[in-house]
Amino acid sequence: MPENCTILALETSCDETSAAVVIDGIKVASNIISSQIATHQKFGGVVPEIASRKHLENITPVVQEALDKAGKLLHELDAIAVTYGPGLVGALLVGVSTAKAMAYALDKPLIGVHHLAGHIYANFLTKPNLELPVVCLVVSGGHTSLIYWKDHGQLELMGSTRDDAAGEAFDKIARALKLGYPGGPFIERAARAGNPEAINFPRAWLEEGSLDFSFSGLKSSVLNYLHRANQLGEEVNAADVAASFQEAVVEVLATKTVNAAELKGAKTITLAGGVAANSRLRQLLQNKAKARGIEVIFPDLIYCTDNAAMIGCAAYFQYLQGKTSDLDLNAVPSLALC
Ligand code: KG4
Ligand code: ZN
Repeated sequence: MPENCTILALETSCDETSAAVVIDGIKVASNIISSQIATHQKFGGVVPEIASRKHLENITPVVQEALDKAGKLLHELDAIAVTYGPGLVGALLVGVSTAKAMAYALDKPLIGVHHLAGHIYANFLTKPNLELPVVCLVVSGGHTSLIYWKDHGQLELMGSTRDDAAGEAFDKIARALKLGYPGGPFIERAARAGNPEAINFPRAWLEEGSLDFSFSGLKSSVLNYLHRANQLGEEVNAADVAASFQEAVVEVLATKTVNAAELKGAKTITLAGGVAANSRLRQLLQNKAKARGIEVIFPDLIYCTDNAAMIGCAAYFQYLQGKTSDLDLNAVPSLALC
């Protein structure tokens, strides 16, 4: 392993074009994120074809900016890392093709990284001395999973959503309330002025002991509530709807995460993914975990949503285990985590 191992990492799985230079897995020398949110906002969601084209326009300047900010020249890099799945295939391909071209031209190792492994490893950027095993709740726009993170490269799936991801539910309800996109931060902001007990939306606990999630019933219930009010000509208190919906999501997430940690005897819980930025989720999880003597670690906000630094971090620990990729690495839109 080279001293001061310097990895250039790329992330283009959805609507963020990001490049980062990460040293020894935990020192972030640069982390450039070019967001396409403004472009997709008017469509109320990510338009895959537009995302691919934007990545193509952005990737070269974003990589250059990441190198410049880190004060690194191409020949000073030790490896090139890239997210190769899951995600939008056209979007992933921009990152994968760029990384492969760079690895080939520079004759450096290529490291393909699973997007969720990146989110999970983001915890090391905030807490480099994090001790494994831990139970990790991965909550993003595309995923809601409970992972037992036993050791480096050893991830065990304990439960996952049977329908919508938590972030997806936030986005859909925000759209129904005409709050904006992406929905999570808008719901959180609206909820601050609302009463979380105003409306008793359903919580899907599923079968006794199940660590799976389901948010489609809750989503339908909120949509029905809005539809009914609309038909009756009643005014809706958007803050109360946002707060009651958010509470229904985070109560199930926090309870099942603490149950999973107890089941594994894990002393630490970590959070990962865009929804991990939600302060009510952080607060409730911390309260429930503290009552059972479990510590909760949150990545810094900038490392919760999509970014390339988390990919560089995960790539380093893969590299330590000799897990590099061949130049025939391809984008895999539904890549499994474990
Ligand atoms: O991890 P991420 O950036 O992209 C995916 O891999 O999906 O997560 C994006 C998701 C979106 O659904 C967004 O609404 C949600 O994370 N999100 C939040 C918050 N910030 C972002 N959800 C709830 N509360 C937030 N503060
Ligand atoms: Zn993500």
